[in-house]
Amino acid sequence: MEQHFGKVAVLMGGISSEREVSLNSGKAVLAALQAQGIDAHAFDPAHESLDALKAFQRVFIALHGGYGENGAIQGALEIMGIPYTGSGVMASAIGMDKFRTKLIWQAVGLPVPEYAMLDAASDFDAVERRLGLPMFVKPACDGSSVGVFMVTKPGELKSAYESARRYGEVIMAEEGITGGEYTVGIVGDKALPIVKIEPATAFYDYEAKYLRDDTRYICPAELPPEKAAEIQAGAKKAFDALGCAGWGRVDFLMDAAGRHYFLEANTAPGMTSHSLVPMAAKVSGLSFEKLVLNVLSFTNSLTKQQDRE
Ligand SMILES: Nc1ncnc2c1ncn2[C@@H]1O[C@H](COP(=O)(O)OP(=O)(O)O)[C@@H](O)[C@H]1O
Ligand SMILES: [Mg+2]
Repeated sequence: MEQHFGKVAVLMGGISSEREVSLNSGKAVLAALQAQGIDAHAFDPAHESLDALKAFQRVFIALHGGYGENGAIQGALEIMGIPYTGSGVMASAIGMDKFRTKLIWQAVGLPVPEYAMLDAASDFDAVERRLGLPMFVKPACDGSSVGVFMVTKPGELKSAYESARRYGEVIMAEEGITGGEYTVGIVGDKALPIVKIEPATAFYDYEAKYLRDDTRYICPAELPPEKAAEIQAGAKKAFDALGCAGWGRVDFLMDAAGRHYFLEANTAPGMTSHSLVPMAAKVSGLSFEKLVLNVLSFTNSLTKQQDRE
């Protein structure tokens, strides 16, 4: 086993706004790999030059957000010829862009919330009439609920736009889908059991994600088996349509009538022992350690190439 993977770098930390979360993911991944006899080492690209990665045979990417998740690190590793976990350059870049993710999902016939792109010259009243209330306003390229605003009162869209604009250049509004929030983890070519997320706050904001301990997670989510299977197949289709690989998470929302809408894809989701993919993996009989090992062994094109040699 150790021979097969060689020396493994676990990339963690980095310079994105999700640095602290990434350090937690990375530490958990590192411990799980080492416990299974893998020659794994922590590597923080905020403190070390990527050049030093040349000493490793394989990389586990436990970075979240920014360069770690948008294709930049993936591109650097491609050029250096080092196999790495998860999605490649293109899927990582698209997964980071909620607007282009939507365009692709719409093109393959997957349901997504209605939306509008906003700029300073938008007719905010017309957007509000079309999308209705509540509405969500957010930067198209950010994560961890930073800069996401819920609009509940008529006439407040413009100020929500201005607030979101402080967090990103490209801003979108979406109709609020308020019948429940869920996520589907994907490992290899399998969709894991669905997790239902029940925040104690108005929506799954930064606080609910990382600071509070009263968010409820229910796995497997209580959905009729046919509905769960339909959504898992949809999530897999959503993952494949973006060109994702290895592992990831597809989030979706449910309306009051029980219709589902795909919200976004995460190509480098949280990997602490209490994160959502590990939670769902456990329900499917996959321990955290085995999950981490599975993710390490799923191969991108580079790894396949190397395995053939
Ligand atoms: N269209 C929507 N309808 C209902 N809730 C939404 C919608 N868009 C976002 N939210 C809420 O805001 C949270 C963060 O939005 P999301 O689009 O997932 O961005 P991020 O990349 O920051 O996670 C979601 O987890 C959900 O609770
Ligand atoms: Mg999200």
